[in-house]
Amino acid sequence: MNTNASLRPAKSFGTAALLVAAMLFGAPLRAADAPPTHPTPPDTLQQRIAACTTCHGVHGEGTPGSGYFPRLAGKPAAYLARQMQDFQNGLRKYAPMEYTVRQLSPAYMQEIAEYFAAQQVPYSRSPLPPVSAATLQRGEQLVSKGDPANKIPACASCHGSQLTGVQPSTPGLVGLPYDYLSAQLGSWRTHTRGTVAPDCMAVVANRLSDSDITAVAAALASRQPPADTHAQAAGSVTPPLPCGVLGATGDGS
Ligand code: HEC
Ligand code: HEC
Repeated sequence: MNTNASLRPAKSFGTAALLVAAMLFGAPLRAADAPPTHPTPPDTLQQRIAACTTCHGVHGEGTPGSGYFPRLAGKPAAYLARQMQDFQNGLRKYAPMEYTVRQLSPAYMQEIAEYFAAQQVPYSRSPLPPVSAATLQRGEQLVSKGDPANKIPACASCHGSQLTGVQPSTPGLVGLPYDYLSAQLGSWRTHTRGTVAPDCMAVVANRLSDSDITAVAAALASRQPPADTHAQAAGSVTPPLPCGVLGATGDGS
């Protein structure tokens, strides 16, 4: 049994991080400090996102071949902006991302988030590990029905009936690679991913066993994304647990 957190290739991007830092904090963004004899380079959105596209793709399609760099395209803008803030304030840990967003202002991050949220690119399938039919079945059960005996709510009860997410802050789960999904679920358990309390995903992840994480990640990664991958309308689900990112402030609300 693998430990899901170990799937995070956390140490292997030192060079990429330096490259990104050079792109982000290098000459173009220091335009204001440049001597007046130098023409001010244009600060376009395309330049801003250049620091992101090596890993996330020009349209936020991710790098499906890597099995890990997540897709950003079409995820709700508020969700994406929040993730950048969470990397900034140490709630979510992944060194190259922490580095990349360290000095970005909230307005700048919002603009980048809106760019990626508006992108529409087809999904491509990532490799799946060999799993048994019984494992896939267990995963499907968790996705659509949950496991009441273990107090695990159905993923669809918050992520939407098609698992395409719900506006404004719940991301879709279809089309994400197996490695990414299982690593994220592992990271809530090892406290390398968190968000404002109450952190409902930490609760859900801690109720899943290791084999449940394998099962649910495999079931989600093997689903054919629906034709319309947009997030469902705000208010179209009633979350069975309070989530701070959805505006809940305490256990009872
Ligand atoms: C070196 C590769 C790399 C670069 C460059 C990079 N990212 Fe990331 N990004 C990642 C990885 C890997 C993750 C998932 C990290 C984890 O395990 O939590 C991630 C996660 C994210 C997430 C959260 C996605 C989600 O669905 O929760 C957002 C948003 C994001 N990146 C935005 C950006 C933006 C904006 C930039 C450019 C300013 C950028 N990234 C540059 C690799 C990169
Ligand atoms: C009570 C509501 C709720 C339930 C139930 C729920 N989720 Fe979530 N999930 C969320 C919210 C809200 C977020 C965004 C968290 C954040 O902003 O940090 C999220 C985020 C995620 C992410 C991160 C996606 C990304 O792009 O990085 C994964 C993976 C995930 N959930 C998997 C699951 C699975 C698997 C289940 C079922 C076993 C499930 N969730 C059940 C509310 C829920």
